Amino acid sequence: MRIRRVFQVTGIVVVVLVVIGVGIYFAIVSAINQDPFAPIYAENCAVCHGENMQGGAQGPALVGAPLVHGESVAELIQSISQGYPAKGMLGWSATMEESHVRSLAILIAEKRVDRQFTDFKMDKDLVVPTEPFETELATFRLETVATGIDPYPFSIAPLPGGQILVTEKKRGLSIIYPDGTRSDPIDGAPETSELGIKILGLDYGIGWHLDVAPHPDYATNGWIYLHHTDLCTGCEGVKDNLLPVSMNRLVRGRIREGKWVDQEVIWSVPETFYNLTPDIGAGGRIAFDPEGYVYLSIGIKGGYFEGIQDLGAPYGKIHRIHDDGTIPVDNPFLHIAGALPSIWTYGHRSPQGLEFDSKTGKLWGSEMGPRGGDEVNFLQPGKNYGWPLYSIGVDYDGTPVEYWKDLGIEFDLEDIEQPVVDLTPSPAVSSFIIYDGKAFPAWRDNFIVGSLKATELYRIEITDDKHMHTEILIKDLARIRDVETGPDGLVYLLLEHEAGSLIVRLVPESQ
Ligand code: HEC
Repeated sequence: MRIRRVFQVTGIVVVVLVVIGVGIYFAIVSAINQDPFAPIYAENCAVCHGENMQGGAQGPALVGAPLVHGESVAELIQSISQGYPAKGMLGWSATMEESHVRSLAILIAEKRVDRQFTDFKMDKDLVVPTEPFETELATFRLETVATGIDPYPFSIAPLPGGQILVTEKKRGLSIIYPDGTRSDPIDGAPETSELGIKILGLDYGIGWHLDVAPHPDYATNGWIYLHHTDLCTGCEGVKDNLLPVSMNRLVRGRIREGKWVDQEVIWSVPETFYNLTPDIGAGGRIAFDPEGYVYLSIGIKGGYFEGIQDLGAPYGKIHRIHDDGTIPVDNPFLHIAGALPSIWTYGHRSPQGLEFDSKTGKLWGSEMGPRGGDEVNFLQPGKNYGWPLYSIGVDYDGTPVEYWKDLGIEFDLEDIEQPVVDLTPSPAVSSFIIYDGKAFPAWRDNFIVGSLKATELYRIEITDDKHMHTEILIKDLARIRDVETGPDGLVYLLLEHEAGSLIVRLVPESQ
């Protein structure tokens, strides 16, 4: 039985939510005081490169200037491991653990972009610049479309006719009208919850609205798909707790006279998979392809590493279904005993972006690693993307990601699909589009990718599944939660901020 109710955050709820098995909180909190690798740098490297990497008499600056031997984490690892004996730096591979070398490389990479992995930029000043952005292939301005959105939004979906659907995690689904005004939350849509806690400025709740997307034939069928975390207040027996629990679910419905009607559940899992793990790791995106398949991304909703490598659990997976919820007959694990038949790929951590490229017929995803290991992936059926066995990044406390030890899973690195784009140090990659609009012809087929804590927008060129080039289109703006192409071909951004979130769009500047 489900009851509509708003839960108060009580002391008990806070304690229970903190204590549940998502090591992420403790990992962040314990790492915040001091980076565990700062002392290793101080002890071994500061004598030549300076206490703050600013350079010294015996070694060059590692920040503030281009590096001679390369700036990627792989190149930094190479520099540190092999050294430059002729110039006075001995290689460290013989005397330092490989994982320490990697952690030092990530420390240097973070410092180079002045990005603290604990600084989420929720309260950073948010001013939309009025001057044009002159970038490599286009000049554009930012235009504010709507203001006053909840500090925790998730998704925008520009519709033909100028309306924009927006989801706010705790308020639900609303419509923004072309004049910037908005509707009340749409009545009858799945319930949301205020239940949650704040840690280090980020919200950890359950019962949230996530991605919203119109069906490709929306103009004729009116279907709107909503990925949310279904709050079950009648499942208190699940996992022996006394609190409401949640789990990802996909529904579709129509909006008629301001109400959510005709709702159908398209994808859901049994109540045994519902749990208390906060929805911040739920993933939550939707992607359609032109043949009537729907894909959905689910993150670490069962815990930091629980169930992600288990084909019998829905967590850490991309799922694929028909738009009416039936299971495609060619799904990769359909005939594997005990596997959930909707699974398309597995081993995902926090999959925040999902897009189908109809030109190439390929599905792409973006996901956040902990500290490093943010990725753009080509999602091929049946493949394993590695979490929590392995990551290019390190965990929040600076140690390597190797939960295979806890899980007792042996694996071969060759069987783990590596990212097409490695975004280390972590920008906290969010959502993206594969641009196919008319407003920016020079960006056609490029990936326009948002980031949260880096507050940057990227244009990434990928050719034949290879990363060719990355440009930072916008720097130092705000947490970019969602990126969409409007029917007008303009690029819409959902900017997240604690004083009120915004929707802006990129408008080309006539030359
Ligand atoms: C005895 C002095 C010395 C120590 C100790 C030392 N380095 Fe160096 N390091 C150098 C010098 C000199 C170079 C310049 C090599 C060159 O110009 O080709 C260098 C180069 C580098 C580079 C490449 C810089 C570039 O421009 O590409 C990196 C990265 C680096 N060091 C990291 C470290 C780290 C990390 C440590 C500690 C584990 C360390 N170094 C310890 C002297 C030192």
